[in-house]
Amino acid sequence: MLTKEDNELLTHTGPGTPMGELFRRFWMPALISDELSHPDCAPLRIKLLGEDLVAFRDSEGQVGVVDAYCPHRRSRLYFGRNEESGLRCLYHGWKFDVAGNCVDMPSEPPESTFKDKVRIKSYPTREWGGVIWTYMGPLGLMPELPLFEWCQVPPSHRSVSRWIQECNYFQGMEGEMDSTHAFFLHQWFDGRQMQPSGPGGARGGHAGGGRPNFVFNSVQITPRQTDFGMIRSSHSHEAEGLRRWRIDRWMIPIFSLISASSYPVGGRCFVPIDDEHVTVFQYVSHPERPLTDDELRRLGPNAPDEKKYTPTLERAAYHLPGGYAIDTWRDQLNLQNDYLQDREFQRTRNMSGVPSQRTQDTVMVERQGDGPIAERYLERLGSTDAPLIKMRQILIDAARDLQRGIEPKNTRHPEHFSTVAIEVVSPHTELDPALQEVEAILRSHSRPWKVGDPATASVL
Ligand code: FES
Ligand SMILES: [Fe+2]
Repeated sequence: MLTKEDNELLTHTGPGTPMGELFRRFWMPALISDELSHPDCAPLRIKLLGEDLVAFRDSEGQVGVVDAYCPHRRSRLYFGRNEESGLRCLYHGWKFDVAGNCVDMPSEPPESTFKDKVRIKSYPTREWGGVIWTYMGPLGLMPELPLFEWCQVPPSHRSVSRWIQECNYFQGMEGEMDSTHAFFLHQWFDGRQMQPSGPGGARGGHAGGGRPNFVFNSVQITPRQTDFGMIRSSHSHEAEGLRRWRIDRWMIPIFSLISASSYPVGGRCFVPIDDEHVTVFQYVSHPERPLTDDELRRLGPNAPDEKKYTPTLERAAYHLPGGYAIDTWRDQLNLQNDYLQDREFQRTRNMSGVPSQRTQDTVMVERQGDGPIAERYLERLGSTDAPLIKMRQILIDAARDLQRGIEPKNTRHPEHFSTVAIEVVSPHTELDPALQEVEAILRSHSRPWKVGDPATASVL
C-alpha cells in the first residue's frame, strides 16, 4: 500500500513533476521508425509525458519532434505541409525545421529578421533499433542511447511493436513485473501449452479436463535492487538436484527484460502518453539469426493467440480528454467494448474469456479501482507482490534523489541496458552463482557487439 501522496508522485509524469523530471533524464521510445515511413510523409500527432507534440520526417529523412502548436497563434501544426526540409504551418505559412528553427516566415516583409528570433519547442531524436527515440530533458545532461541488444542486432533479427493501454503507465509496468498473475489470468483449460505471445513466452499455467487449476505451484520470487533498477529472480524445481532460474530485469524508469528458456528474448517498455494513457513497446530479438516468419507473426502487432478472436491493432486518431487527438495503435478489443469478453469461452476454454495474452493483461490493468490511475492506497498486498513494492520504492527514491540533485546512475551507464534475460537450469539455490551461469551463457554466443551483465557488479 502506498500513501496517496506517494501514489501521485509515482504516477504523474507531466512537466515539472518529480517523476516527470526523472523520466526526462532518459531517451524514450516515441514511435516505431516505420510509422514515419519515408521523407516528407504525413506528420503524426503524438503525446509524450503529457506534452502535445508532432513528429515528422523531413526531406533528408531526419525526424523532428516539435510542439503540436505553432508559436505564431497556436494553430495545430499537424495539419501543416511537410515540404522541403521543414513543416509549414497552414495558417500563415511559418515553417520549422527538425531542430525547431523558423526557416521561413512569408507573412513578414522580406527584410524582416523576426523569423531568426522565433523557435518552436523541439526535442532531439535518434533512430535506434527500428525505433524513434526522443530526449525531453536538459540538453547538457543528454545521455548516450541505451545499449539494448535488440537495438544492436540487424533489423531482420528483431521484432518491435507497440499498442496503447488506457491507464497510467505504472500499472502496465506492474503487470509486466508481476509474474504470479500468469498462473491464473493466462491459464487455459485444454492442457495445451500457451502460445508464448509476449517476450519471454507465457508462463501461464494450464490445466487439463476443461477446468481451471487454482493451485499455485509456489515458486520463490525475490526482488533485488541494483544500480540499474531491479532483478526479479525466481527458481522452481526442475529435476532431481536442479532448479530452473528465471532472472528478469527492470531498468529505471520503464524498461523490462523478461527471461525465456530460449531465444528470441526481449521485453517491453511503458512510455507515458499522459497520466491516463500509456504506449507499450514490445521488443524481441535473436542475437544470431533472422526471426522466422512464424516468430514474426507470433511476436508482431497482431499476434494470433486464438483464431476465433484474433485481436487486431488499428491505427486510430485517438481522442484524449480535452479533444486533442494522438495517432496511435489501438486494439479492436478495448475498454469501451469490454474487450468482447466471451463468457462461454471463459466457462469452457480459458480463465479470461479473452483470447490473447496481451489483451488479458490489458483487461486487468486498465482499471484497478475507480479510474485510470490505480488506487494503491486501498490495496492489500501479499507476499508475491514483493517485486512491485520494491519497484515502486526504487522509482520513488530515484525521483526524490533527483529533487535533491542526485542524478540516476544508469543514465551514465548505457551498458547497464545491454544484458539479456535468459533462463538457466542450475544446481544453485543462491542468486549470485546462478547469475554467473547466465553471464557464461551470454558470453558463449558469438556477437559482434558487447553484451554485458552489469547485474552482479552493481548490486547495491
Ligand atoms: S498560426 Fe501558424 S503561421 Fe500563423
Ligand atoms: Fe500477463
